[in-house]
Amino acid sequence: MGQGKNGDPLSEFEVEVECLMQALYLRWGYDFREYSRASLRRRVARYMSDNQILRAADLQHELIRDKKRCVHFVRGLTVNVTDMFRDPVFYKVIREQVIPELRSHPFIKIWHAGCSTGEEAYSMSILLHEEGLGERAVIYATDINSQVLDQASKGVYHEKMLSSARENYKDSGGKSKLDDFVSVGYERFLIDPGLKKNIVFTQHDLVTDQVFGEMQMVICRNVLIYFRRELQTKVLTLFHNSLDMGGFLGLGIKESLRSLPNEFRYKAIDESARVFQRVD
Ligand SMILES: C[S@@+](CC[C@H](N)C(=O)[O-])C[C@H]1O[C@@H](n2cnc3c(N)ncnc32)[C@H](O)[C@@H]1O
Repeated sequence: MGQGKNGDPLSEFEVEVECLMQALYLRWGYDFREYSRASLRRRVARYMSDNQILRAADLQHELIRDKKRCVHFVRGLTVNVTDMFRDPVFYKVIREQVIPELRSHPFIKIWHAGCSTGEEAYSMSILLHEEGLGERAVIYATDINSQVLDQASKGVYHEKMLSSARENYKDSGGKSKLDDFVSVGYERFLIDPGLKKNIVFTQHDLVTDQVFGEMQMVICRNVLIYFRRELQTKVLTLFHNSLDMGGFLGLGIKESLRSLPNEFRYKAIDESARVFQRVD
């Protein structure tokens, strides 16, 4: 019998969600089986209520027959919240402690895994340009969700996000003004096209796809929190195999290497900012 966290039997809905995840994998290859359940169940419940579906079993019936519908459903399973210079201390540590080491490389490759709508990759591009490294860096910005990647490659955001972006930029140790890198109008702000030149946006699934080779830095923030421990370990191994020796790993503020098998392969550059360096 399947059990919930506190040892109780799973509810009918919980069992149906388990079956649904298995069915999506078997039928279409979408693998959410090792995502943590709390967020996943909330997303399924919301999709059902938005689409007036009463039972997860009915949803399953539809999704295994209709690929288009399934793609739409799967997009709704991921949480895509992000921001420019989110958790500014992270960028401050990159600027002050990682950039000096990256300067010695003739060519710099950075992978942003789970980049959502792209703000994180543009923030890094701004930072690299300010530090004079824009021309010799390539940023690979990937996500499982093709819809957010479309938005990312446009680089157009709602103006209401601008004030927090400006503040974050300043707190991250930005050297000039964010407005030097964006143009504002029609209730939108637009990323300077020059910042896009060194970014490649492409679809990549951390659960089923392969290594991205020889990176100097891998950044994957606020993605592992949605994964169960075993999947976290698997994905961290993927990052490890994608990183050069001495390369840097950046995680989200709520994520950690602690007690995971990969812990001892990294030294902390700044534990609280979640910036690590591969040493093994
Ligand atoms: C909360 S957002 C984080 C965005 C950004 N990294 C940040 O910290 O602001 C999580 C992103 O991870 C992506 N994601 C979830 N599962 C994924 C997977 N298996 N492979 C790649 N990306 C995934 C989601 O589509 C979503 O865009």
